Amino acid sequence: MRSEGASDERRCSEYLSDTGAAMSAHKPMCIDPLEAPLRGIVRMPGDKSISHRAVLFAAMAQGTSRLSGVLDSDDVRASVHAVERLGARVSLEKMADGSLAGDIAGWGAAGPRVPDGPIDCGNSGTTARLLMGMLSSWDIEVELTGDASLRRRPMRRVTAPLEKMGARFFPEGDATLPLTVRGTSAPHAVDYDSPVASAQVKTALLLAGIRAAGTTRITEPAPSRNHTELMLPRFGVAVASEPGTVRVKGPATMRACAIRVPGDPSSAAFPACAAALVPGSAVRIEGVSLNPSRIGFVRVLERMGVDAATRIDSHAGGEPAGAISVRYCDDLHACDVPAESIASLIDEVPVLCLVAAYARGTTVFHGVSELRVKETDRIAGIIDGLSAIGVHAWMEGDDLHIEGNPGLSVPDGVEFASKGDHRLAMTWALVGFTGGASVRVADFESVSVSYPGFLADIRSLEGGR
Ligand code: S3P
Repeated sequence: MRSEGASDERRCSEYLSDTGAAMSAHKPMCIDPLEAPLRGIVRMPGDKSISHRAVLFAAMAQGTSRLSGVLDSDDVRASVHAVERLGARVSLEKMADGSLAGDIAGWGAAGPRVPDGPIDCGNSGTTARLLMGMLSSWDIEVELTGDASLRRRPMRRVTAPLEKMGARFFPEGDATLPLTVRGTSAPHAVDYDSPVASAQVKTALLLAGIRAAGTTRITEPAPSRNHTELMLPRFGVAVASEPGTVRVKGPATMRACAIRVPGDPSSAAFPACAAALVPGSAVRIEGVSLNPSRIGFVRVLERMGVDAATRIDSHAGGEPAGAISVRYCDDLHACDVPAESIASLIDEVPVLCLVAAYARGTTVFHGVSELRVKETDRIAGIIDGLSAIGVHAWMEGDDLHIEGNPGLSVPDGVEFASKGDHRLAMTWALVGFTGGASVRVADFESVSVSYPGFLADIRSLEGGR
Protein backbone atom coordinates (compact mmCIF):
# COMPACT_ATOMS: atom_id res chain seq x y z
CA MET A 1 0.00 0.00 0.00
CA ARG A 2 2.73 2.45 0.87
CA SER A 3 4.30 2.58 -2.59
CA GLU A 4 2.01 3.35 -5.48
CA GLY A 5 3.14 0.34 -7.52
CA ALA A 6 0.35 -2.02 -6.54
CA SER A 7 0.25 -3.45 -10.06
CA ASP A 8 3.90 -4.52 -9.72
CA GLU A 9 3.21 -6.41 -6.55
CA ARG A 10 3.97 -10.06 -6.54
CA ARG A 11 1.59 -11.71 -4.18
CA CYS A 12 2.67 -14.64 -2.05
CA SER A 13 0.45 -16.95 -4.04
CA GLU A 14 2.61 -16.31 -7.13
CA TYR A 15 5.80 -17.53 -5.60
CA LEU A 16 4.57 -20.17 -3.23
CA SER A 17 4.06 -23.40 -5.11
CA ASP A 18 1.68 -24.52 -2.40
CA THR A 19 -1.18 -22.03 -2.22
CA GLY A 20 -3.12 -23.86 0.46
CA ALA A 21 -3.48 -22.55 3.97
CA ALA A 22 -1.18 -19.56 4.40
CA MET A 23 0.02 -20.81 7.75
CA SER A 24 0.87 -24.34 8.66
CA ALA A 25 3.09 -25.86 11.29
CA HIS A 26 6.53 -25.19 9.84
CA LYS A 27 5.89 -23.06 6.78
CA PRO A 28 6.59 -19.36 6.81
CA MET A 29 3.52 -17.14 6.98
CA CYS A 30 2.82 -15.31 3.78
CA ILE A 31 1.63 -11.69 4.09
CA ASP A 32 0.28 -9.83 1.07
CA PRO A 33 -0.02 -6.02 0.91
CA LEU A 34 -3.27 -4.47 2.07
CA GLU A 35 -5.53 -3.51 -0.82
CA ALA A 36 -7.24 -0.62 0.98
CA PRO A 37 -6.47 1.77 3.83
CA LEU A 38 -7.02 0.70 7.43
CA ARG A 39 -10.16 2.40 8.67
CA GLY A 40 -12.63 1.92 11.50
CA ILE A 41 -12.67 0.67 15.05
CA VAL A 42 -11.04 -2.35 16.64
CA ARG A 43 -11.00 -3.56 20.26
CA MET A 44 -7.88 -5.01 21.75
CA PRO A 45 -7.63 -8.32 23.60
CA GLY A 46 -6.73 -8.23 27.30
CA ASP A 47 -3.39 -6.84 28.40
CA LYS A 48 -0.81 -9.60 28.82
CA SER A 49 0.99 -8.12 31.83
CA ILE A 50 -2.25 -7.34 33.66
CA SER A 51 -3.73 -10.77 32.81
CA HIS A 52 -0.70 -12.55 34.29
CA ARG A 53 -0.96 -10.49 37.44
CA ALA A 54 -4.71 -11.00 37.80
CA VAL A 55 -4.29 -14.79 37.53
CA LEU A 56 -1.22 -15.04 39.78
CA PHE A 57 -2.48 -12.63 42.47
CA ALA A 58 -5.90 -14.31 42.54
CA ALA A 59 -4.13 -17.64 43.10
CA MET A 60 -2.24 -16.19 46.08
CA ALA A 61 -5.31 -14.60 47.68
CA GLN A 62 -7.68 -15.91 50.32
CA GLY A 63 -11.10 -16.55 48.73
CA THR A 64 -12.47 -16.58 45.21
CA SER A 65 -11.61 -13.79 42.80
CA ARG A 66 -13.70 -13.00 39.75
CA LEU A 67 -11.74 -12.09 36.62
CA SER A 68 -12.90 -10.84 33.23
CA GLY A 69 -11.25 -9.65 30.03
CA VAL A 70 -8.31 -11.99 30.63
CA LEU A 71 -6.13 -12.47 27.54
CA ASP A 72 -6.39 -15.97 26.09
CA SER A 73 -2.85 -16.48 24.81
CA ASP A 74 -0.07 -19.01 25.25
CA ASP A 75 1.77 -16.86 27.80
CA VAL A 76 -1.25 -16.31 30.04
CA ARG A 77 -2.18 -19.98 29.77
CA ALA A 78 1.29 -20.77 31.16
CA SER A 79 0.38 -18.75 34.27
CA VAL A 80 -3.04 -20.40 34.51
CA HIS A 81 -1.55 -23.91 34.29
CA ALA A 82 1.14 -23.02 36.80
CA VAL A 83 -1.29 -21.85 39.48
CA GLU A 84 -3.53 -24.88 38.90
CA ARG A 85 -0.52 -27.15 39.49
CA LEU A 86 0.16 -25.18 42.68
CA GLY A 87 -3.34 -25.75 44.02
CA ALA A 88 -5.47 -22.79 42.90
CA ARG A 89 -8.88 -23.77 41.53
CA VAL A 90 -9.38 -22.09 38.17
CA SER A 91 -12.67 -21.97 36.31
CA LEU A 92 -12.09 -19.50 33.49
CA GLU A 93 -14.20 -19.81 30.36
CA LYS A 94 -13.88 -18.46 26.85
CA MET A 95 -16.28 -15.57 26.21
CA ALA A 96 -17.82 -14.55 22.87
CA ASP A 97 -15.21 -11.78 22.47
CA GLY A 98 -12.39 -14.32 22.83
CA SER A 99 -11.41 -13.28 26.37
CA LEU A 100 -11.37 -15.54 29.42
CA ALA A 101 -13.65 -14.84 32.38
CA GLY A 102 -14.57 -16.66 35.57
CA ASP A 103 -13.30 -17.49 39.03
CA ILE A 104 -10.02 -18.38 40.68
CA ALA A 105 -10.10 -19.76 44.23
CA GLY A 106 -6.71 -18.96 45.73
CA TRP A 107 -4.58 -20.93 48.18
CA GLY A 108 -4.54 -18.04 50.66
CA ALA A 109 -3.14 -18.83 54.10
CA ALA A 110 -2.82 -22.55 53.24
CA GLY A 111 -0.07 -21.73 50.76
CA PRO A 112 0.76 -23.35 47.42
CA ARG A 113 0.79 -27.14 47.07
CA VAL A 114 3.93 -28.98 45.94
CA PRO A 115 3.34 -29.96 42.29
CA ASP A 116 4.13 -33.47 41.08
CA GLY A 117 6.98 -32.34 38.82
CA PRO A 118 8.49 -29.24 37.21
CA ILE A 119 6.29 -26.32 36.20
CA ASP A 120 6.72 -25.44 32.53
CA CYS A 121 6.46 -21.66 32.01
CA GLY A 122 6.60 -22.05 28.22
CA ASN A 123 7.82 -18.84 26.58
CA SER A 124 6.70 -16.62 29.45
CA GLY A 125 9.37 -14.69 31.35
CA THR A 126 6.66 -13.00 33.41
CA THR A 127 5.30 -16.36 34.60
CA ALA A 128 8.75 -17.66 35.56
CA ARG A 129 10.02 -14.55 37.32
CA LEU A 130 6.80 -13.76 39.18
CA LEU A 131 6.47 -17.38 40.32
CA MET A 132 9.98 -17.19 41.76
CA GLY A 133 8.86 -14.30 43.94
CA MET A 134 5.57 -15.97 44.89
CA LEU A 135 7.23 -19.25 45.89
CA SER A 136 10.16 -17.67 47.74
CA SER A 137 8.09 -16.89 50.80
CA TRP A 138 6.75 -20.41 51.42
CA ASP A 139 8.45 -23.49 52.80
CA ILE A 140 8.26 -25.28 49.45
CA GLU A 141 10.55 -26.63 46.73
CA VAL A 142 9.42 -26.27 43.10
CA GLU A 143 11.31 -26.70 39.84
CA LEU A 144 10.60 -24.15 37.10
CA THR A 145 11.48 -24.57 33.46
CA GLY A 146 10.45 -23.20 30.08
CA ASP A 147 10.91 -23.47 26.33
CA ALA A 148 14.29 -23.09 24.62
CA SER A 149 13.95 -19.29 24.45
CA LEU A 150 13.01 -18.90 28.12
CA ARG A 151 15.81 -21.26 29.17
CA ARG A 152 18.30 -18.80 27.66
CA ARG A 153 16.94 -15.73 29.48
CA PRO A 154 18.69 -14.25 32.54
CA MET A 155 17.24 -15.18 35.93
CA ARG A 156 19.99 -13.86 38.25
CA ARG A 157 18.30 -10.44 38.25
CA VAL A 158 15.48 -12.10 40.21
CA THR A 159 17.22 -14.94 42.06
CA ALA A 160 20.02 -12.72 43.48
CA PRO A 161 17.70 -10.34 45.39
CA LEU A 162 15.36 -13.20 46.37
CA GLU A 163 18.37 -14.97 47.90
CA LYS A 164 18.90 -11.87 50.04
CA MET A 165 15.32 -12.42 51.24
CA GLY A 166 16.17 -16.00 52.27
CA ALA A 167 15.16 -18.10 49.25
CA ARG A 168 17.60 -20.50 47.60
CA PHE A 169 17.87 -21.63 44.00
CA PHE A 170 19.36 -24.86 42.66
CA PRO A 171 21.64 -25.71 40.95
CA GLU A 172 23.37 -23.02 43.02
CA GLY A 173 24.86 -20.19 40.94
CA ASP A 174 22.95 -21.13 37.76
CA ALA A 175 21.70 -18.07 35.90
CA THR A 176 19.10 -19.76 33.69
CA LEU A 177 16.17 -22.17 33.91
CA PRO A 178 15.62 -24.93 34.83
CA LEU A 179 15.92 -23.82 38.44
CA THR A 180 14.46 -25.20 41.65
CA VAL A 181 13.14 -22.58 44.05
CA ARG A 182 13.46 -23.46 47.73
CA GLY A 183 11.43 -20.88 49.58
CA THR A 184 11.43 -19.92 53.23
CA SER A 185 8.49 -19.40 55.54
CA ALA A 186 10.38 -16.56 57.23
CA PRO A 187 11.54 -14.25 54.41
CA HIS A 188 13.47 -11.09 55.26
CA ALA A 189 12.35 -7.68 54.07
CA VAL A 190 15.01 -6.02 51.89
CA ASP A 191 15.98 -2.65 50.57
CA TYR A 192 17.01 -3.37 47.00
CA ASP A 193 18.54 -1.07 44.42
CA SER A 194 17.82 -2.83 41.14
CA PRO A 195 20.37 -2.32 38.37
CA VAL A 196 17.61 -2.78 35.73
CA ALA A 197 14.27 -1.07 35.23
CA SER A 198 12.23 -4.26 35.18
CA ALA A 199 8.65 -4.70 36.29
CA GLN A 200 9.24 -8.43 36.53
CA VAL A 201 12.09 -7.97 39.04
CA LYS A 202 10.12 -5.35 40.98
CA THR A 203 7.01 -7.53 41.10
CA ALA A 204 8.86 -10.69 42.15
CA LEU A 205 10.35 -8.84 45.14
CA LEU A 206 7.06 -7.18 46.08
CA LEU A 207 5.31 -10.56 46.03
CA ALA A 208 7.96 -12.10 48.28
CA GLY A 209 7.83 -8.98 50.47
CA ILE A 210 4.13 -9.45 51.20
CA ARG A 211 5.00 -12.26 53.65
CA ALA A 212 8.22 -10.72 55.02
CA ALA A 213 8.12 -8.91 58.36
CA GLY A 214 8.99 -5.26 57.71
CA THR A 215 9.20 -3.01 54.68
CA THR A 216 10.57 -4.27 51.39
CA ARG A 217 11.70 -1.39 49.20
CA ILE A 218 12.76 -1.57 45.55
CA THR A 219 14.41 1.28 43.70
CA GLU A 220 14.79 1.23 39.91
CA PRO A 221 16.99 3.28 37.57
CA ALA A 222 13.82 4.36 35.69
CA PRO A 223 10.18 3.64 36.53
CA SER A 224 8.97 0.39 34.93
CA ARG A 225 5.30 -0.49 34.32
CA ASN A 226 3.30 -0.16 37.55
CA HIS A 227 0.48 -2.69 37.12
CA THR A 228 1.49 -4.52 40.30
CA GLU A 229 1.35 -1.35 42.39
CA LEU A 230 -2.08 -0.57 40.95
CA MET A 231 -3.50 -4.07 41.41
CA LEU A 232 -2.15 -5.22 44.80
CA PRO A 233 -4.27 -2.69 46.78
CA ARG A 234 -7.35 -4.26 45.21
CA PHE A 235 -6.23 -7.53 46.82
CA GLY A 236 -5.94 -5.68 50.14
CA VAL A 237 -2.18 -5.04 50.10
CA ALA A 238 -1.07 -1.43 50.43
CA VAL A 239 1.85 -0.42 48.21
CA ALA A 240 3.52 2.96 48.54
CA SER A 241 5.16 4.30 45.41
CA GLU A 242 6.98 7.32 44.11
CA PRO A 243 8.51 7.38 40.62
CA GLY A 244 11.34 4.83 40.67
CA THR A 245 10.65 3.45 44.20
CA VAL A 246 8.01 1.10 45.63
CA ARG A 247 7.45 -0.21 49.14
CA VAL A 248 5.32 -2.95 50.62
CA LYS A 249 4.94 -3.60 54.35
CA GLY A 250 4.58 -7.21 55.43
CA PRO A 251 3.26 -9.46 56.57
CA ALA A 252 0.01 -8.66 54.76
CA THR A 253 -2.95 -10.79 53.76
CA MET A 254 -4.18 -10.96 50.18
CA ARG A 255 -7.96 -11.11 49.84
CA ALA A 256 -9.94 -12.06 46.75
CA CYS A 257 -11.42 -9.31 44.59
CA ALA A 258 -12.89 -8.68 41.14
CA ILE A 259 -10.60 -7.56 38.30
CA ARG A 260 -11.55 -6.51 34.79
CA VAL A 261 -8.50 -6.60 32.53
CA PRO A 262 -8.28 -3.75 30.01
CA GLY A 263 -6.97 -4.21 26.45
CA ASP A 264 -3.29 -4.42 25.64
CA PRO A 265 -1.51 -1.25 24.47
CA SER A 266 1.44 -3.37 23.26
CA SER A 267 -0.91 -5.18 20.87
CA ALA A 268 -2.55 -1.86 19.92
CA ALA A 269 0.86 -0.63 18.75
CA PHE A 270 0.59 -2.90 15.68
CA PRO A 271 -2.63 -1.55 14.13
CA ALA A 272 -1.54 1.93 15.27
CA CYS A 273 1.79 1.76 13.45
CA ALA A 274 0.20 0.10 10.42
CA ALA A 275 -2.29 2.98 10.20
CA ALA A 276 0.54 5.53 10.41
CA LEU A 277 2.19 3.84 7.40
CA VAL A 278 -0.73 3.06 5.06
CA PRO A 279 -2.01 6.03 3.02
CA GLY A 280 -5.60 7.02 3.79
CA SER A 281 -5.78 5.13 7.10
CA ALA A 282 -7.60 6.33 10.22
CA VAL A 283 -8.21 3.85 13.04
CA ARG A 284 -9.57 3.94 16.57
CA ILE A 285 -8.35 1.22 18.90
CA GLU A 286 -10.73 0.88 21.82
CA GLY A 287 -10.74 -0.65 25.28
CA VAL A 288 -7.01 -0.25 25.83
CA SER A 289 -5.11 0.41 29.06
CA LEU A 290 -3.84 3.99 28.81
CA ASN A 291 -1.48 3.59 31.73
CA PRO A 292 1.28 6.18 31.08
CA SER A 293 3.92 3.55 31.90
CA ARG A 294 2.78 1.66 28.77
CA ILE A 295 1.91 4.17 26.07
CA GLY A 296 5.30 5.72 25.40
CA PHE A 297 4.91 4.50 21.80
CA VAL A 298 2.03 6.95 21.20
CA ARG A 299 4.28 9.82 22.29
CA VAL A 300 7.02 8.65 19.92
CA LEU A 301 4.57 8.43 17.01
CA GLU A 302 3.43 11.99 17.79
CA ARG A 303 7.02 13.17 17.82
CA MET A 304 7.52 11.58 14.40
CA GLY A 305 4.65 13.70 13.08
CA VAL A 306 1.80 11.20 13.36
CA ASP A 307 -1.66 12.46 14.25
CA ALA A 308 -2.15 10.16 17.27
CA ALA A 309 -4.36 10.78 20.28
CA THR A 310 -5.50 8.99 23.42
CA ARG A 311 -8.80 9.44 25.26
CA ILE A 312 -9.51 7.96 28.68
CA ASP A 313 -13.15 6.88 28.97
CA SER A 314 -13.16 4.33 31.81
CA HIS A 315 -11.15 2.49 34.43
CA ALA A 316 -10.48 -1.24 34.49
CA GLY A 317 -8.35 -3.27 36.89
CA GLY A 318 -7.19 -0.05 38.58
CA GLU A 319 -5.94 1.28 35.21
CA PRO A 320 -7.11 4.21 33.09
CA ALA A 321 -8.55 2.79 29.86
CA GLY A 322 -9.87 4.20 26.62
CA ALA A 323 -9.10 4.69 22.94
CA ILE A 324 -6.01 5.36 20.83
CA SER A 325 -6.70 7.06 17.47
CA VAL A 326 -4.10 7.15 14.72
CA ARG A 327 -4.09 8.53 11.16
CA TYR A 328 -1.76 8.01 8.22
CA CYS A 329 1.24 10.35 8.18
CA ASP A 330 2.75 11.40 4.84
CA ASP A 331 5.70 13.21 6.42
CA LEU A 332 7.30 11.03 9.06
CA HIS A 333 10.42 12.48 10.62
CA ALA A 334 13.08 10.95 12.81
CA CYS A 335 13.30 11.62 16.54
CA ASP A 336 15.47 10.91 19.54
CA VAL A 337 13.97 8.55 22.12
CA PRO A 338 15.64 9.16 25.50
CA ALA A 339 16.76 6.28 27.71
CA GLU A 340 14.36 7.36 30.50
CA SER A 341 11.34 6.68 28.31
CA ILE A 342 12.41 3.24 27.02
CA ALA A 343 10.71 1.36 29.89
CA SER A 344 7.36 2.86 28.78
CA LEU A 345 7.75 1.41 25.26
CA ILE A 346 10.17 -1.48 25.78
CA ASP A 347 8.05 -4.04 23.88
CA GLU A 348 7.16 -1.59 21.09
CA VAL A 349 10.74 -0.80 20.01
CA PRO A 350 10.70 -3.32 17.11
CA VAL A 351 7.53 -1.93 15.52
CA LEU A 352 8.61 1.68 16.16
CA CYS A 353 11.86 0.86 14.34
CA LEU A 354 9.78 -0.09 11.31
CA VAL A 355 8.03 3.30 11.40
CA ALA A 356 11.44 4.96 11.81
CA ALA A 357 12.60 3.12 8.67
CA TYR A 358 10.17 5.29 6.66
CA ALA A 359 11.02 8.56 8.41
CA ARG A 360 13.18 11.43 7.20
CA GLY A 361 16.46 11.31 9.14
CA THR A 362 18.01 8.97 11.68
CA THR A 363 15.97 7.93 14.71
CA VAL A 364 17.91 6.98 17.83
CA PHE A 365 16.53 4.78 20.62
CA HIS A 366 18.83 5.41 23.59
CA GLY A 367 19.63 2.79 26.22
CA VAL A 368 17.98 -0.25 24.65
CA SER A 369 20.45 -3.03 25.51
CA GLU A 370 17.67 -4.78 27.54
CA LEU A 371 16.25 -5.80 24.16
CA ARG A 372 19.13 -8.25 23.84
CA VAL A 373 17.58 -10.44 26.57
CA LYS A 374 13.94 -10.52 25.51
CA GLU A 375 12.31 -13.56 23.87
CA THR A 376 15.22 -13.31 21.40
CA ASP A 377 18.02 -10.83 20.93
CA ARG A 378 15.67 -8.21 19.50
CA ILE A 379 18.52 -5.82 18.63
CA ALA A 380 20.04 -8.42 16.30
CA GLY A 381 16.56 -9.30 15.00
CA ILE A 382 15.72 -5.67 14.19
CA ILE A 383 19.07 -4.95 12.51
CA ASP A 384 18.91 -8.15 10.39
CA GLY A 385 15.25 -7.69 9.43
CA LEU A 386 15.66 -4.04 8.44
CA SER A 387 18.78 -4.82 6.47
CA ALA A 388 16.74 -7.36 4.44
CA ILE A 389 14.63 -4.43 3.18
CA GLY A 390 17.60 -2.14 2.59
CA VAL A 391 17.42 -0.10 5.79
CA HIS A 392 20.64 0.66 7.64
CA ALA A 393 20.35 0.13 11.41
CA TRP A 394 23.21 -0.15 13.89
CA MET A 395 24.16 -0.02 17.57
CA GLU A 396 26.50 2.55 19.08
CA GLY A 397 27.04 1.58 22.70
CA ASP A 398 23.54 1.04 24.10
CA ASP A 399 21.84 3.18 21.44
CA LEU A 400 20.04 1.84 18.39
CA HIS A 401 20.17 3.99 15.24
CA ILE A 402 17.72 3.63 12.33
CA GLU A 403 18.50 5.51 9.13
CA GLY A 404 15.10 6.27 7.66
CA ASN A 405 14.18 6.46 3.99
CA PRO A 406 10.76 7.94 3.10
CA GLY A 407 11.11 6.47 -0.43
CA LEU A 408 11.80 2.95 0.86
CA SER A 409 10.68 0.24 -1.51
CA VAL A 410 10.43 -3.28 -0.09
CA PRO A 411 12.03 -5.81 -2.45
CA ASP A 412 10.03 -8.82 -3.61
CA GLY A 413 10.14 -12.14 -1.88
CA VAL A 414 11.81 -11.17 1.40
CA GLU A 415 11.65 -13.85 4.05
CA PHE A 416 12.09 -12.69 7.64
CA ALA A 417 13.35 -14.85 10.47
CA SER A 418 11.23 -14.01 13.49
CA LYS A 419 13.23 -16.48 15.60
CA GLY A 420 10.00 -17.47 17.32
CA ASP A 421 9.64 -13.97 18.80
CA HIS A 422 6.02 -12.75 18.70
CA ARG A 423 6.82 -9.05 18.53
CA LEU A 424 9.34 -9.52 15.71
CA ALA A 425 6.88 -11.78 13.85
CA MET A 426 4.16 -9.07 13.94
CA THR A 427 6.63 -6.32 13.02
CA TRP A 428 7.76 -8.20 9.90
CA ALA A 429 4.17 -9.02 9.03
CA LEU A 430 3.52 -5.25 8.98
CA VAL A 431 6.23 -4.93 6.31
CA GLY A 432 4.10 -7.21 4.13
CA PHE A 433 0.86 -5.38 4.93
CA THR A 434 2.25 -1.87 4.44
CA GLY A 435 5.33 -2.07 2.20
CA GLY A 436 3.92 -2.81 -1.26
CA ALA A 437 5.43 -6.30 -1.69
CA SER A 438 4.49 -9.67 -0.25
CA VAL A 439 6.78 -11.06 2.42
CA ARG A 440 7.14 -14.29 4.32
CA VAL A 441 7.65 -14.54 8.06
CA ALA A 442 9.18 -17.69 9.53
CA ASP A 443 7.91 -19.05 12.88
CA PHE A 444 4.90 -16.79 12.71
CA GLU A 445 2.97 -19.08 15.08
CA SER A 446 4.62 -17.24 17.99
CA VAL A 447 2.02 -14.44 17.70
CA SER A 448 -0.19 -16.69 19.84
CA VAL A 449 2.07 -15.74 22.77
CA SER A 450 0.44 -12.30 23.04
CA TYR A 451 -1.97 -11.49 20.20
CA PRO A 452 -3.61 -14.53 18.57
CA GLY A 453 -6.13 -12.30 16.73
CA PHE A 454 -3.48 -10.07 15.14
CA LEU A 455 -4.07 -11.03 11.49
CA ALA A 456 -7.84 -11.00 11.81
CA ASP A 457 -7.78 -7.56 13.47
CA ILE A 458 -5.63 -6.01 10.73
CA ARG A 459 -7.77 -7.56 7.99
CA SER A 460 -10.96 -6.39 9.76
CA LEU A 461 -9.76 -2.78 9.41
CA GLU A 462 -8.77 -3.14 5.75
CA GLY A 463 -11.14 -1.05 3.66
CA GLY A 464 -13.36 -0.20 6.64
CA ARG A 465 -15.20 3.06 7.09
C1 S3P B 1 6.62 -7.33 31.69
C2 S3P B 1 7.69 -6.51 31.86
C3 S3P B 1 8.67 -6.22 30.81
C4 S3P B 1 8.12 -6.55 29.43
C5 S3P B 1 7.46 -7.88 29.40
C6 S3P B 1 6.31 -7.95 30.39
C7 S3P B 1 5.74 -7.57 32.84
O1 S3P B 1 9.81 -7.00 31.02
O2 S3P B 1 9.15 -6.48 28.47
O3 S3P B 1 6.95 -8.14 28.10
O4 S3P B 1 4.62 -8.09 32.65
O5 S3P B 1 6.14 -7.26 33.96
P1 S3P B 1 10.94 -6.55 32.07
O6 S3P B 1 10.34 -6.49 33.40
O7 S3P B 1 12.01 -7.60 31.99
O8 S3P B 1 11.42 -5.22 31.55
